[in-house]
Amino acid sequence: MRKINIFDTTLRDGEQSAGVNLNLAEKLEIARQLERLGVDIIEAGFPAASKGDFQAVKQIAETIRNCSVTGLSRSVQSDIDAAWEALKGGAEPRLHLFIATSPIHMHYKLRMRPEEVIEAAVSAVKYAKKYFPIIQWSAEDACRSDLPFLAAIITEVIKAGANVINIPDTVGYITPKEYGEIFTYLTKNVQNIEKVSLSAHCHDDLGMAVANSLAAIEHGATQIEGTINGIGERAGNAALEEVAVALYIRKDYYQATTRLNLQEVKRTSNLVSKLTGMPVPPNKAVVGKNAFAHESGIHQDGVLKEKTTYEIISPELVGVHSNSMVLGKHSGRHALRNRVAELGYTLTEEEINKLFVRFKELADKKKDITDDDLVALIFEEKFDQFKDFYQLSSIQVQYGTKQIPTAVVVLTDGKGNEIQEAATGAGSVEALYNTLERCFQTTVKLLDYRIESVSGGRDALAQVFVKVRVNEIETSGRGTAQDVLEASAKAYINAVNRVFMIEKMREENQKVAIN
Ligand code: KIV
Ligand code: ZN
Repeated sequence: MRKINIFDTTLRDGEQSAGVNLNLAEKLEIARQLERLGVDIIEAGFPAASKGDFQAVKQIAETIRNCSVTGLSRSVQSDIDAAWEALKGGAEPRLHLFIATSPIHMHYKLRMRPEEVIEAAVSAVKYAKKYFPIIQWSAEDACRSDLPFLAAIITEVIKAGANVINIPDTVGYITPKEYGEIFTYLTKNVQNIEKVSLSAHCHDDLGMAVANSLAAIEHGATQIEGTINGIGERAGNAALEEVAVALYIRKDYYQATTRLNLQEVKRTSNLVSKLTGMPVPPNKAVVGKNAFAHESGIHQDGVLKEKTTYEIISPELVGVHSNSMVLGKHSGRHALRNRVAELGYTLTEEEINKLFVRFKELADKKKDITDDDLVALIFEEKFDQFKDFYQLSSIQVQYGTKQIPTAVVVLTDGKGNEIQEAATGAGSVEALYNTLERCFQTTVKLLDYRIESVSGGRDALAQVFVKVRVNEIETSGRGTAQDVLEASAKAYINAVNRVFMIEKMREENQKVAIN
Protein backbone atom coordinates (compact mmCIF):
# COMPACT_ATOMS: atom_id res chain seq x y z
CA MET A 1 0.00 0.00 0.00
CA ARG A 2 1.25 3.47 -0.87
CA LYS A 3 0.96 6.05 1.93
CA ILE A 4 -0.91 9.20 0.87
CA ASN A 5 -0.26 12.36 2.88
CA ILE A 6 -3.32 14.42 3.72
CA PHE A 7 -2.79 18.18 3.55
CA ASP A 8 -5.69 20.02 5.12
CA THR A 9 -6.37 23.59 4.04
CA THR A 10 -9.71 24.12 5.84
CA LEU A 11 -8.17 27.01 7.79
CA ARG A 12 -6.72 28.70 4.69
CA ASP A 13 -8.54 27.85 1.42
CA GLY A 14 -11.62 26.79 3.42
CA GLU A 15 -11.69 30.02 5.37
CA GLN A 16 -11.74 31.85 2.02
CA SER A 17 -15.40 30.72 1.64
CA ALA A 18 -17.71 33.73 1.39
CA GLY A 19 -18.88 34.92 4.81
CA VAL A 20 -16.59 32.61 6.83
CA ASN A 21 -14.54 34.44 9.45
CA LEU A 22 -13.22 32.23 12.21
CA ASN A 23 -11.82 33.73 15.39
CA LEU A 24 -8.63 32.52 17.02
CA ALA A 25 -10.33 30.16 19.50
CA GLU A 26 -12.35 28.59 16.68
CA LYS A 27 -9.28 28.13 14.48
CA LEU A 28 -7.40 26.50 17.35
CA GLU A 29 -10.27 24.13 18.04
CA ILE A 30 -10.42 23.08 14.38
CA ALA A 31 -6.63 22.61 14.30
CA ARG A 32 -6.78 20.39 17.42
CA GLN A 33 -9.52 18.32 15.84
CA LEU A 34 -7.54 17.97 12.59
CA GLU A 35 -4.64 16.71 14.66
CA ARG A 36 -6.98 14.18 16.31
CA LEU A 37 -8.26 13.17 12.87
CA GLY A 38 -4.67 12.49 11.91
CA VAL A 39 -4.04 14.76 8.93
CA ASP A 40 -0.35 15.02 8.04
CA ILE A 41 -0.20 18.73 7.31
CA ILE A 42 -2.37 21.63 8.49
CA GLU A 43 -2.30 24.79 6.42
CA ALA A 44 -3.18 27.22 9.18
CA GLY A 45 -3.45 30.44 7.16
CA PHE A 46 -1.57 33.08 5.22
CA PRO A 47 0.70 34.79 7.79
CA ALA A 48 1.45 37.91 5.72
CA ALA A 49 -2.23 38.54 4.97
CA SER A 50 -3.11 40.18 8.31
CA LYS A 51 -2.08 40.40 11.93
CA GLY A 52 -4.97 38.09 12.84
CA ASP A 53 -3.84 35.45 10.34
CA PHE A 54 -0.26 35.76 11.58
CA GLN A 55 -1.27 35.24 15.19
CA ALA A 56 -3.52 32.30 14.37
CA VAL A 57 -0.80 30.53 12.36
CA LYS A 58 1.74 31.16 15.12
CA GLN A 59 -0.48 29.87 17.87
CA ILE A 60 -1.52 26.80 15.89
CA ALA A 61 2.12 26.03 15.01
CA GLU A 62 3.07 26.30 18.68
CA THR A 63 0.14 24.15 19.85
CA ILE A 64 0.01 21.29 17.36
CA ARG A 65 2.67 18.63 17.89
CA ASN A 66 1.54 15.65 15.81
CA CYS A 67 1.22 17.26 12.39
CA SER A 68 3.34 19.57 10.32
CA VAL A 69 1.89 23.09 10.28
CA THR A 70 2.33 25.24 7.21
CA GLY A 71 1.40 28.72 6.00
CA LEU A 72 0.89 30.16 2.54
CA SER A 73 3.32 32.68 1.10
CA ARG A 74 3.64 34.61 -2.12
CA SER A 75 7.05 34.52 -3.78
CA VAL A 76 8.28 37.65 -2.02
CA GLN A 77 10.75 37.99 0.83
CA SER A 78 8.41 39.89 3.17
CA ASP A 79 5.82 37.06 3.00
CA ILE A 80 8.51 34.44 3.61
CA ASP A 81 9.88 36.38 6.60
CA ALA A 82 6.38 36.67 8.11
CA ALA A 83 5.74 32.97 7.52
CA TRP A 84 8.98 32.00 9.26
CA GLU A 85 8.19 34.17 12.28
CA ALA A 86 4.77 32.50 12.50
CA LEU A 87 5.89 28.94 11.86
CA LYS A 88 9.31 28.60 13.47
CA GLY A 89 7.83 27.27 16.74
CA GLY A 90 6.15 24.38 14.95
CA ALA A 91 7.01 20.70 15.28
CA GLU A 92 7.98 20.52 11.60
CA PRO A 93 7.91 23.99 10.00
CA ARG A 94 7.05 23.95 6.35
CA LEU A 95 6.46 26.75 3.85
CA HIS A 96 3.86 26.77 1.11
CA LEU A 97 5.15 29.04 -1.64
CA PHE A 98 3.13 29.77 -4.75
CA ILE A 99 3.26 31.69 -7.98
CA ALA A 100 0.96 31.57 -10.98
CA THR A 101 2.18 29.78 -14.12
CA SER A 102 -0.71 29.96 -16.62
CA PRO A 103 -0.49 32.44 -19.50
CA ILE A 104 -3.72 34.13 -18.30
CA HIS A 105 -2.44 34.64 -14.76
CA MET A 106 1.11 35.61 -15.74
CA HIS A 107 -0.08 38.15 -18.31
CA TYR A 108 -3.10 39.74 -16.63
CA LYS A 109 -2.49 39.26 -12.92
CA LEU A 110 1.26 39.17 -12.40
CA ARG A 111 2.12 41.23 -15.51
CA MET A 112 5.33 39.23 -15.74
CA ARG A 113 7.02 37.39 -18.58
CA PRO A 114 7.45 33.60 -18.16
CA GLU A 115 11.25 33.98 -17.62
CA GLU A 116 10.58 36.53 -14.87
CA VAL A 117 8.17 34.12 -13.20
CA ILE A 118 10.84 31.39 -13.19
CA GLU A 119 13.34 33.83 -11.73
CA ALA A 120 10.94 34.96 -8.99
CA ALA A 121 10.02 31.36 -8.12
CA VAL A 122 13.63 30.21 -7.92
CA SER A 123 14.83 33.13 -5.84
CA ALA A 124 11.86 32.71 -3.44
CA VAL A 125 12.66 29.02 -2.92
CA LYS A 126 16.37 29.81 -2.38
CA TYR A 127 15.53 32.56 0.09
CA ALA A 128 13.04 30.37 1.99
CA LYS A 129 15.57 27.54 2.13
CA LYS A 130 17.59 29.66 4.59
CA TYR A 131 14.82 29.09 7.13
CA PHE A 132 12.59 26.18 6.25
CA PRO A 133 13.54 22.48 6.25
CA ILE A 134 10.55 21.66 4.02
CA ILE A 135 9.26 23.76 1.14
CA GLN A 136 6.16 23.02 -0.85
CA TRP A 137 5.99 24.88 -4.13
CA SER A 138 2.69 25.40 -5.96
CA ALA A 139 2.11 26.41 -9.57
CA GLU A 140 -1.11 28.37 -9.26
CA ASP A 141 -3.49 27.63 -12.16
CA ALA A 142 -1.17 24.76 -13.17
CA CYS A 143 -3.92 23.01 -15.10
CA ARG A 144 -4.26 25.88 -17.59
CA SER A 145 -0.49 26.25 -17.93
CA ASP A 146 1.67 25.33 -20.89
CA LEU A 147 3.02 21.89 -19.97
CA PRO A 148 6.63 22.32 -21.26
CA PHE A 149 6.77 25.62 -19.31
CA LEU A 150 5.36 23.91 -16.22
CA ALA A 151 8.00 21.18 -16.51
CA ALA A 152 10.75 23.79 -16.95
CA ILE A 153 9.79 25.88 -13.90
CA ILE A 154 9.34 22.76 -11.75
CA THR A 155 12.81 21.52 -12.76
CA GLU A 156 14.27 24.86 -11.61
CA VAL A 157 12.44 25.08 -8.28
CA ILE A 158 13.47 21.51 -7.44
CA LYS A 159 17.10 22.50 -8.16
CA ALA A 160 16.59 25.49 -5.85
CA GLY A 161 15.46 23.20 -3.01
CA ALA A 162 11.68 22.58 -3.18
CA ASN A 163 10.62 19.29 -1.54
CA VAL A 164 6.98 19.00 -2.56
CA ILE A 165 5.50 20.07 -5.90
CA ASN A 166 1.82 20.90 -5.90
CA ILE A 167 -0.26 21.00 -9.09
CA PRO A 168 -3.39 23.05 -8.31
CA ASP A 169 -6.49 23.03 -10.44
CA THR A 170 -7.14 26.54 -9.17
CA VAL A 171 -10.33 27.17 -11.14
CA GLY A 172 -11.77 23.64 -11.05
CA TYR A 173 -11.45 23.23 -14.82
CA ILE A 174 -9.69 19.92 -15.39
CA THR A 175 -11.20 16.44 -15.92
CA PRO A 176 -9.87 13.33 -14.12
CA LYS A 177 -8.27 11.89 -17.27
CA GLU A 178 -6.51 15.15 -18.14
CA TYR A 179 -5.36 15.69 -14.57
CA GLY A 180 -3.85 12.22 -14.44
CA GLU A 181 -2.07 12.92 -17.74
CA ILE A 182 -0.46 16.08 -16.30
CA PHE A 183 1.07 14.01 -13.49
CA THR A 184 2.29 11.42 -16.00
CA TYR A 185 3.72 14.17 -18.24
CA LEU A 186 5.59 15.80 -15.36
CA THR A 187 6.92 12.46 -14.11
CA LYS A 188 8.39 11.84 -17.58
CA ASN A 189 9.58 15.35 -18.38
CA VAL A 190 11.01 16.76 -15.15
CA GLN A 191 14.47 15.12 -14.88
CA ASN A 192 14.83 15.62 -11.11
CA ILE A 193 11.23 14.70 -10.25
CA GLU A 194 12.28 11.72 -8.09
CA LYS A 195 13.67 14.20 -5.53
CA VAL A 196 10.20 15.49 -4.61
CA SER A 197 6.74 14.27 -3.81
CA LEU A 198 3.81 15.31 -5.97
CA SER A 199 0.67 16.85 -4.57
CA ALA A 200 -2.85 17.45 -5.93
CA HIS A 201 -5.00 20.47 -5.04
CA CYS A 202 -8.42 20.51 -6.71
CA HIS A 203 -11.30 22.95 -6.74
CA ASP A 204 -14.84 21.81 -7.33
CA ASP A 205 -16.28 24.23 -9.88
CA LEU A 206 -17.35 21.38 -12.17
CA GLY A 207 -18.00 18.96 -9.32
CA MET A 208 -14.88 16.90 -10.09
CA ALA A 209 -12.50 17.83 -7.26
CA VAL A 210 -12.62 14.45 -5.49
CA ALA A 211 -12.53 12.45 -8.74
CA ASN A 212 -9.57 14.54 -9.92
CA SER A 213 -7.72 14.01 -6.63
CA LEU A 214 -8.20 10.25 -6.89
CA ALA A 215 -7.02 10.33 -10.53
CA ALA A 216 -3.87 12.14 -9.35
CA ILE A 217 -3.21 9.31 -6.88
CA GLU A 218 -3.48 6.81 -9.71
CA HIS A 219 -0.85 8.80 -11.60
CA GLY A 220 1.75 9.22 -8.91
CA ALA A 221 0.55 11.90 -6.46
CA THR A 222 1.42 11.06 -2.87
CA GLN A 223 -0.23 14.07 -1.26
CA ILE A 224 -3.83 15.25 -1.50
CA GLU A 225 -4.91 18.72 -0.48
CA GLY A 226 -8.46 19.63 0.42
CA THR A 227 -10.82 20.74 3.14
CA ILE A 228 -13.31 19.20 5.53
CA ASN A 229 -16.80 19.15 3.99
CA GLY A 230 -15.20 20.47 0.79
CA ILE A 231 -15.58 24.10 1.86
CA GLY A 232 -13.51 26.77 0.11
CA GLU A 233 -13.38 29.47 -2.57
CA ARG A 234 -16.44 29.47 -4.86
CA ALA A 235 -17.61 25.82 -5.17
CA GLY A 236 -14.97 24.73 -2.68
CA ASN A 237 -12.09 22.25 -2.58
CA ALA A 238 -11.87 18.47 -2.67
CA ALA A 239 -13.65 17.06 0.41
CA LEU A 240 -10.89 15.26 2.30
CA GLU A 241 -13.27 12.91 4.11
CA GLU A 242 -14.53 11.69 0.74
CA VAL A 243 -11.02 11.10 -0.59
CA ALA A 244 -9.96 9.23 2.57
CA VAL A 245 -13.07 7.04 2.74
CA ALA A 246 -12.86 6.28 -1.00
CA LEU A 247 -9.26 5.11 -0.51
CA TYR A 248 -10.31 2.98 2.45
CA ILE A 249 -13.40 1.39 0.90
CA ARG A 250 -11.68 0.87 -2.47
CA LYS A 251 -8.24 -0.12 -1.21
CA ASP A 252 -8.52 -3.14 -3.51
CA TYR A 253 -8.40 -0.68 -6.41
CA TYR A 254 -6.26 2.25 -5.24
CA GLN A 255 -3.79 0.23 -3.14
CA ALA A 256 -3.21 3.36 -1.08
CA THR A 257 -3.83 4.32 2.50
CA THR A 258 -3.87 7.43 4.70
CA ARG A 259 -3.04 8.01 8.35
CA LEU A 260 -6.55 9.33 9.10
CA ASN A 261 -8.51 8.00 12.04
CA LEU A 262 -11.79 7.65 10.15
CA GLN A 263 -13.72 7.41 13.43
CA GLU A 264 -13.08 11.15 13.84
CA VAL A 265 -14.54 12.07 10.44
CA LYS A 266 -18.09 12.86 11.54
CA ARG A 267 -17.01 14.87 14.57
CA THR A 268 -14.61 16.90 12.43
CA SER A 269 -17.32 17.55 9.86
CA ASN A 270 -19.80 18.68 12.54
CA LEU A 271 -17.27 20.95 14.18
CA VAL A 272 -16.26 22.64 10.93
CA SER A 273 -19.87 23.03 9.85
CA LYS A 274 -20.97 24.61 13.13
CA LEU A 275 -17.96 26.89 13.53
CA THR A 276 -18.01 28.13 9.93
CA GLY A 277 -21.82 28.32 9.78
CA MET A 278 -21.72 26.32 6.53
CA PRO A 279 -24.35 23.58 6.56
CA VAL A 280 -23.59 20.10 5.25
CA PRO A 281 -26.15 19.11 2.58
CA PRO A 282 -28.17 16.10 3.81
CA ASN A 283 -27.22 14.06 0.75
CA LYS A 284 -23.49 14.85 0.97
CA ALA A 285 -21.31 11.74 0.61
CA VAL A 286 -19.82 10.29 3.82
CA VAL A 287 -21.01 12.98 6.28
CA GLY A 288 -24.49 14.07 5.12
CA LYS A 289 -27.41 13.38 7.46
CA ASN A 290 -28.96 11.04 4.91
CA ALA A 291 -25.72 9.33 3.86
CA PHE A 292 -26.71 6.23 5.83
CA ALA A 293 -30.51 6.50 5.68
CA HIS A 294 -32.30 3.82 3.69
CA GLU A 295 -35.68 5.13 2.66
CA SER A 296 -37.24 2.80 0.10
CA GLY A 297 -38.96 -0.36 1.30
CA ILE A 298 -36.84 -2.59 -0.93
CA HIS A 299 -33.62 -1.07 0.41
CA GLN A 300 -34.77 -1.26 4.04
CA ASP A 301 -35.73 -4.87 3.58
CA GLY A 302 -32.36 -5.65 1.99
CA VAL A 303 -30.38 -3.89 4.75
CA LEU A 304 -32.36 -5.68 7.46
CA LYS A 305 -31.53 -9.03 5.87
CA GLU A 306 -27.89 -8.20 5.16
CA LYS A 307 -26.36 -4.73 5.61
CA THR A 308 -23.96 -5.02 2.69
CA THR A 309 -26.83 -5.28 0.20
CA TYR A 310 -27.10 -1.49 0.08
CA GLU A 311 -24.51 -0.21 2.55
CA ILE A 312 -20.92 0.10 1.38
CA ILE A 313 -19.83 2.38 4.25
CA SER A 314 -20.90 1.59 7.78
CA PRO A 315 -21.86 4.66 9.84
CA GLU A 316 -19.59 3.45 12.66
CA LEU A 317 -16.57 3.59 10.32
CA VAL A 318 -16.80 7.39 10.18
CA GLY A 319 -17.89 7.82 13.80
CA VAL A 320 -21.64 8.25 13.36
CA HIS A 321 -23.24 7.27 16.65
CA SER A 322 -26.74 7.77 17.94
CA ASN A 323 -27.16 10.97 19.94
CA SER A 324 -27.12 9.50 23.42
CA MET A 325 -28.78 11.11 26.43
CA VAL A 326 -26.02 11.45 28.94
CA LEU A 327 -26.85 14.05 31.50
CA GLY A 328 -29.94 15.24 33.34
CA LYS A 329 -31.16 17.50 36.08
CA HIS A 330 -29.35 15.60 38.81
CA SER A 331 -25.98 15.35 37.10
CA GLY A 332 -23.25 17.17 38.95
CA ARG A 333 -20.25 19.27 37.97
CA HIS A 334 -18.00 16.21 37.95
CA ALA A 335 -20.19 14.34 35.45
CA LEU A 336 -20.35 17.44 33.28
CA ARG A 337 -16.57 17.89 33.35
CA ASN A 338 -16.07 14.23 32.39
CA ARG A 339 -18.53 14.36 29.53
CA VAL A 340 -16.99 17.57 28.17
CA ALA A 341 -13.60 15.84 28.15
CA GLU A 342 -15.08 12.71 26.53
CA LEU A 343 -16.55 14.91 23.81
CA GLY A 344 -13.03 16.16 23.16
CA TYR A 345 -13.24 19.75 24.46
CA THR A 346 -10.74 21.41 26.73
CA LEU A 347 -12.33 23.99 29.00
CA THR A 348 -10.76 26.06 31.74
CA GLU A 349 -12.17 25.77 35.27
CA GLU A 350 -13.88 29.14 34.83
CA GLU A 351 -15.48 27.99 31.57
CA ILE A 352 -16.64 24.74 33.23
CA ASN A 353 -18.24 26.75 36.04
CA LYS A 354 -20.11 28.98 33.60
CA LEU A 355 -21.11 25.98 31.52
CA PHE A 356 -22.44 24.29 34.63
CA VAL A 357 -24.73 27.24 35.35
CA ARG A 358 -26.06 27.18 31.77
CA PHE A 359 -26.42 23.40 31.95
CA LYS A 360 -28.48 23.59 35.15
CA GLU A 361 -30.69 26.32 33.68
CA LEU A 362 -31.33 24.15 30.65
CA ALA A 363 -31.86 20.97 32.69
CA ASP A 364 -34.63 22.77 34.59
CA LYS A 365 -36.52 23.33 31.35
CA LYS A 366 -35.48 20.32 29.27
CA LYS A 367 -35.65 16.76 30.51
CA ASP A 368 -32.90 15.09 28.50
CA ILE A 369 -29.62 16.83 27.81
CA THR A 370 -28.00 15.20 24.78
CA ASP A 371 -24.42 15.42 23.60
CA ASP A 372 -25.56 17.82 20.88
CA ASP A 373 -27.16 20.09 23.51
CA LEU A 374 -23.97 20.05 25.49
CA VAL A 375 -21.85 20.87 22.44
CA ALA A 376 -24.17 23.81 21.65
CA LEU A 377 -23.65 25.14 25.20
CA ILE A 378 -19.88 24.58 24.98
CA PHE A 379 -19.79 26.56 21.73
CA GLU A 380 -21.58 29.46 23.40
CA GLU A 381 -19.19 29.44 26.32
CA LYS A 382 -16.00 28.88 24.38
CA PHE A 383 -16.37 30.60 21.02
CA ASP A 384 -19.26 33.03 21.08
CA GLN A 385 -18.20 35.43 23.82
CA PHE A 386 -17.13 38.83 22.60
CA LYS A 387 -16.63 40.54 25.93
CA ASP A 388 -15.33 43.76 24.35
CA PHE A 389 -18.51 44.23 22.33
CA TYR A 390 -22.28 43.85 22.68
CA GLN A 391 -23.97 41.44 25.09
CA LEU A 392 -27.66 40.69 25.20
CA SER A 393 -29.36 41.63 28.48
CA SER A 394 -33.00 41.11 27.58
CA ILE A 395 -35.54 41.05 24.79
CA GLN A 396 -39.27 41.44 24.74
CA VAL A 397 -41.25 40.81 21.57
CA GLN A 398 -44.96 41.36 21.10
CA TYR A 399 -46.67 39.49 18.32
CA GLY A 400 -50.32 39.01 17.44
CA THR A 401 -51.94 38.22 14.12
CA LYS A 402 -53.74 41.57 14.25
CA GLN A 403 -50.93 43.62 15.80
CA ILE A 404 -47.78 45.25 14.50
CA PRO A 405 -44.89 43.15 15.83
CA THR A 406 -42.84 45.21 18.26
CA ALA A 407 -39.54 44.45 19.98
CA VAL A 408 -37.74 46.01 22.95
CA VAL A 409 -34.08 45.10 23.42
CA VAL A 410 -31.60 45.88 26.18
CA LEU A 411 -27.89 45.40 25.38
CA THR A 412 -24.69 46.27 27.16
CA ASP A 413 -21.69 47.45 25.19
CA GLY A 414 -18.09 46.48 25.93
CA LYS A 415 -17.78 49.34 28.43
CA GLY A 416 -20.77 48.22 30.48
CA ASN A 417 -23.15 50.94 29.19
CA GLU A 418 -26.77 49.90 28.82
CA ILE A 419 -28.51 50.52 25.50
CA GLN A 420 -32.27 50.21 25.19
CA GLU A 421 -34.22 50.50 21.95
CA ALA A 422 -37.60 49.56 20.48
CA ALA A 423 -38.81 49.14 16.92
CA THR A 424 -41.47 47.43 14.83
CA GLY A 425 -41.29 45.13 11.81
CA ALA A 426 -43.44 43.03 9.49
CA GLY A 427 -42.69 39.95 11.63
CA SER A 428 -41.19 39.22 15.05
CA VAL A 429 -37.67 38.56 13.76
CA GLU A 430 -37.72 41.68 11.62
CA ALA A 431 -38.91 43.78 14.57
CA LEU A 432 -36.08 42.30 16.66
CA TYR A 433 -33.44 42.91 14.00
CA ASN A 434 -34.69 46.46 13.33
CA THR A 435 -34.35 47.13 17.06
CA LEU A 436 -30.87 45.64 17.25
CA GLU A 437 -29.80 47.70 14.23
CA ARG A 438 -30.84 50.82 16.15
CA CYS A 439 -28.75 49.71 19.11
CA PHE A 440 -25.70 49.18 16.87
CA GLN A 441 -26.22 52.55 15.14
CA THR A 442 -25.05 51.08 11.87
CA THR A 443 -26.70 49.53 8.82
CA VAL A 444 -26.77 45.74 8.97
CA LYS A 445 -27.77 43.83 5.85
CA LEU A 446 -29.12 40.38 6.63
CA LEU A 447 -27.95 38.04 3.85
CA ASP A 448 -29.11 34.71 5.22
CA TYR A 449 -31.08 33.33 8.16
CA ARG A 450 -31.31 29.63 9.02
CA ILE A 451 -32.83 27.91 12.02
CA GLU A 452 -32.49 24.31 13.17
CA SER A 453 -33.25 22.34 16.27
CA VAL A 454 -30.24 20.96 18.12
CA SER A 455 -31.94 17.68 18.91
CA GLY A 456 -35.48 16.39 18.54
CA GLY A 457 -38.52 17.12 20.71
CA ARG A 458 -40.69 20.16 21.38
CA ASP A 459 -38.37 21.30 24.15
CA ALA A 460 -35.30 21.22 21.84
CA LEU A 461 -32.78 24.05 21.76
CA ALA A 462 -33.04 26.30 18.71
CA GLN A 463 -29.87 27.17 16.86
CA VAL A 464 -29.94 30.13 14.48
CA PHE A 465 -27.26 30.87 11.89
CA VAL A 466 -27.16 34.25 10.14
CA LYS A 467 -24.98 35.86 7.55
CA VAL A 468 -24.72 39.66 7.58
CA ARG A 469 -22.92 42.44 5.78
CA VAL A 470 -21.83 45.53 7.72
CA ASN A 471 -19.53 48.20 6.29
CA GLU A 472 -18.59 45.89 3.36
CA ILE A 473 -17.61 43.07 5.75
CA GLU A 474 -19.49 39.78 5.49
CA THR A 475 -19.61 37.48 8.49
CA SER A 476 -21.73 34.72 9.88
CA GLY A 477 -22.98 34.36 13.45
CA ARG A 478 -24.82 31.79 15.50
CA GLY A 479 -26.97 31.79 18.59
CA THR A 480 -28.54 29.08 20.71
CA ALA A 481 -31.49 29.31 23.09
CA GLN A 482 -34.65 27.46 23.91
CA ASP A 483 -36.65 30.29 22.46
CA VAL A 484 -36.30 30.91 18.73
CA LEU A 485 -36.42 34.69 19.09
CA GLU A 486 -33.71 34.73 21.73
CA ALA A 487 -31.58 32.44 19.52
CA SER A 488 -32.25 34.82 16.59
CA ALA A 489 -31.15 37.84 18.62
CA LYS A 490 -28.00 36.10 19.84
CA ALA A 491 -27.02 35.03 16.30
CA TYR A 492 -27.43 38.59 15.00
CA ILE A 493 -25.41 40.09 17.85
CA ASN A 494 -22.75 37.39 17.41
CA ALA A 495 -22.39 38.17 13.68
CA VAL A 496 -22.22 41.94 14.23
CA ASN A 497 -19.71 41.53 17.08
CA ARG A 498 -17.51 39.57 14.66
CA VAL A 499 -17.62 42.51 12.24
CA PHE A 500 -16.60 44.92 15.00
CA MET A 501 -13.83 42.54 15.99
CA ILE A 502 -12.52 42.42 12.39
CA GLU A 503 -12.66 46.22 12.19
CA LYS A 504 -10.76 46.52 15.47
CA MET A 505 -8.06 44.15 14.20
CA ARG A 506 -7.81 46.10 10.94
CA GLU A 507 -7.36 49.33 12.91
CA GLU A 508 -4.62 47.70 14.99
CA ASN A 509 -2.99 46.44 11.79
CA GLN A 510 -2.92 49.96 10.45
CA LYS A 511 -1.40 51.23 13.68
CA VAL A 512 1.29 48.56 13.44
CA ALA A 513 1.96 49.50 9.81
CA ILE A 514 2.25 53.23 10.70
CA ASN A 515 4.59 52.54 13.60
O1 KIV B 1 -6.11 26.96 -5.68
C1 KIV B 1 -4.93 27.34 -5.64
O2 KIV B 1 -4.24 27.51 -6.64
C2 KIV B 1 -4.36 27.62 -4.33
C3 KIV B 1 -2.89 27.83 -4.28
C4 KIV B 1 -2.52 29.00 -3.49
C5 KIV B 1 -2.22 26.57 -3.86
O3 KIV B 1 -5.04 27.59 -3.33
ZN1 ZN C 1 -6.97 26.52 -3.75
